[in-house]
Amino acid sequence: MNMILEGKVALVTGAGRGIGREEALLLASEGAKVIVNDVGANREGTGADVHPAQQTVEDIKAAGGEADLNPDDVSSWTGAENLVKQAVDTWGQLDILVNNAGILRDKMSFNMDESDWDDVIRVHLKGHFAPSHFAAIHWRNRSKGGESVSGRIINTASEAGLFGNAGQANYGAAKAGIAAMTIILGRELERYGVTVNAISPRARTRMTEDLFGEMAKAQEGKFDAFGPENVAPLVAFLASDEASDVSGQNFVVFGGSVWVVEGWKPAGELKRDSRWTPKELADNKSTLFKNHSSGVPPFGFF
Ligand SMILES: NC(=O)c1ccc[n+]([C@@H]2O[C@H](COP(=O)([O-])OP(=O)(O)OC[C@H]3O[C@@H](n4cnc5c(N)ncnc54)[C@H](O)[C@@H]3O)[C@@H](O)[C@H]2O)c1
Repeated sequence: MNMILEGKVALVTGAGRGIGREEALLLASEGAKVIVNDVGANREGTGADVHPAQQTVEDIKAAGGEADLNPDDVSSWTGAENLVKQAVDTWGQLDILVNNAGILRDKMSFNMDESDWDDVIRVHLKGHFAPSHFAAIHWRNRSKGGESVSGRIINTASEAGLFGNAGQANYGAAKAGIAAMTIILGRELERYGVTVNAISPRARTRMTEDLFGEMAKAQEGKFDAFGPENVAPLVAFLASDEASDVSGQNFVVFGGSVWVVEGWKPAGELKRDSRWTPKELADNKSTLFKNHSSGVPPFGFF
C-alpha cells in the first residue's frame, strides 16, 4: 500500500478522544510514528486521565503502527517543550505538529467569569502557540544546520472563530486568534521549509453532542457525515509532502466537504480627500454597506 506519511514523525495534541484520536490513528496508518498527547481532561478542562491516550497508543500499535504516549498539558510552556523533546528523543526528529487539544466553557458574556475566560484562552491559544514555538525552534535549527526541512503545523480553529457564535466569546476569540496565528506562523516559517495551516472541523464528539443532537446521530446504512474520522484525511494530506505548496490557509471540513475559507477583506468603501464627520458617516452608511454580502446571520445589514 502507498502510504503518504512513510518515515514521518508526528505529534497530535488532545489525541485521547474525538477528532484528535482519529487524526492520530490515520496519521499512523499512513506511515507516521505518532506521539499521542492528551492530558485527559473533562470537557470543561479539569481533571486528568491517562487512559484515553493510552487506548489510542494501544490501538495504533495493534494496527501495526508506532506510537508513544505523552500526558503533558499543552498550555504549559514546560509541557510543550517536553512534548517536542519527546518526539525528537524517541524518533530523532519532528516533522508534523497537529495542534488539536481543546476545552469548552460556553457562556454569554454577562455570565462568564474570569476563569472561564482565562482557561479557554490558555488551553486553545497558548496551547497552540507553545508547542508551535518549540517545534519552530527545532525546524529552524535543522534548517540552519543545512538540512532540507519539511515541517508541518496543522492548527484547529473553529467556525465559532471565523464567523462568530453567541455564547462563545472566550472560545471564539481563541479560535479567531488561532486562525490569525496560522497566517502569521506560515509567513515566519516559510523560509525554513515549514507550512502552517488550520482546519475548522464539524464532528460529533463529546464537545458537540448536545449542540448537534439528533441531527448528528449516525444512521445505519448511511454515510456518517458527522463522524470525527471524516476530518482526519485533510490533516493527513496537509501533513504530507504533497501539500508543500499549501500554507497560511484556513479550511472548514466535515463529512465529505472541504472548504478553503478566505479572511478579512474590504467589502465596502467611502473615500474622499478630506475627513468625514460622524454625521456624514451616518448619512452615507448605505453607500458604505452597498456591496456588503451578509453571509453571517443574523446581522443582515439593510
Ligand atoms: N467537534 C467539533 O465539531 C469541533 C468544531 C470546531 C472545533 N473543534 C475543535 O477540535 C478540537 C478537538 O475537539 P473534539 O471535538 O475532538 O473534543 P474532545 O473533547 O473530544 O477532545 C479534546 C481533547 O483535548 C484534550 N485536552 C484538553 N485540554 C488539554 C491540554 N491542556 N493538554 C492536552 N490535552 C488536552 C482532552 O483531554 C480531550 O481528549 C478542539 O480544538 C475543538 O475546539 C471541534
